[in-house]
Amino acid sequence: MRILLTGASGQLGRSLQRVLRDSDLITISRPEYDITKETIVDRICSIEPDIVIHTAAKTDVDECERDPESAYLVNATATKFIATACASCHARLVYISTDYVFDGSKHDSYNEEDPPGPINVYGKTKLAGEKYTQDLVSRNYVIRTAWLYGEGQNNFVKKILGLTGKPPIKVVTTQIGSPTSADDLALAIDKLVQFPEYGIYHLTNEGVCSRFEMAEAILQFSNLGDVPIQPISIYERPAPIPSRIVLKNKRAAALGIVLRPWREALRSFVECQ
Ligand SMILES: NC(=O)c1ccc[n+]([C@@H]2O[C@H](COP(=O)([O-])OP(=O)(O)OC[C@H]3O[C@@H](n4cnc5c(N)ncnc54)[C@H](OP(=O)(O)O)[C@@H]3O)[C@@H](O)[C@H]2O)c1
Repeated sequence: MRILLTGASGQLGRSLQRVLRDSDLITISRPEYDITKETIVDRICSIEPDIVIHTAAKTDVDECERDPESAYLVNATATKFIATACASCHARLVYISTDYVFDGSKHDSYNEEDPPGPINVYGKTKLAGEKYTQDLVSRNYVIRTAWLYGEGQNNFVKKILGLTGKPPIKVVTTQIGSPTSADDLALAIDKLVQFPEYGIYHLTNEGVCSRFEMAEAILQFSNLGDVPIQPISIYERPAPIPSRIVLKNKRAAALGIVLRPWREALRSFVECQ
């Protein structure tokens, strides 16, 4: 089975490369492959993939808010091209989406069939990517995840560790979600694509916490001693952020795919930093 991976240099892309190292894996990345140009359709088809795992995205939520055109181009239009390629060469498509397709107003957890309602540009453009995936490719997996961390510099774990030794770290208690290890998610994706059961999936590490609780756990696991940390309720930023999103994993759990509790996964990651 030939697997084509986009976003190979990203957090999840790197984890998938490790998990799929014994597979017939082909990665495409810029500048050699520009997924925002329609020519990518034929170029993907010429590789003759059986499955495309599309992780590439503009993931900086505030940057998406500042530059919605570029966010739409990368998250939606490029996904349309990739889905068009999959339809034309009969490949299955795995599209990685986000908890931010929801607005966070539901008091309970979100099921796979709950109606989305994004409140920021990132969420809107990722939802548009979901729609292209579903409309163009019948054999699709739309995998929504949240609060990803993995190899790379651009995640909450690295941010918190980079702030130690300075004045008290201020972290919000008002954002609630599920921290998710890119390595754990990559393993789950590898298992999921063994099943010809298509559609939307919710995959995060199990459990839920606030950003403040996550920061406390990072500091605790890093053994850096007593680092001052201060809970705050408001953090001004360009993008509106949903206050509480918990993704309920119903469909993958029915196939026996459940990620471990978030604390356990976070501990393993932080101890290796
Ligand atoms: N990070 C999170 O907390 C989070 C939460 C929920 C869902 N997700 C979703 O999970 C997926 C993986 O996220 P991640 O955190 O692993 O992402 P990431 O570390 O930010 O990596 C993004 C990847 O996309 C590539 N990319 C960005 N713009 C591109 C373009 N114009 N053309 C080609 N490639 C481009 C990047 O390539 P370069 O190295 O060339 O920039 C990089 O490989 C994404 O689809 C994201 O929407 C992420």
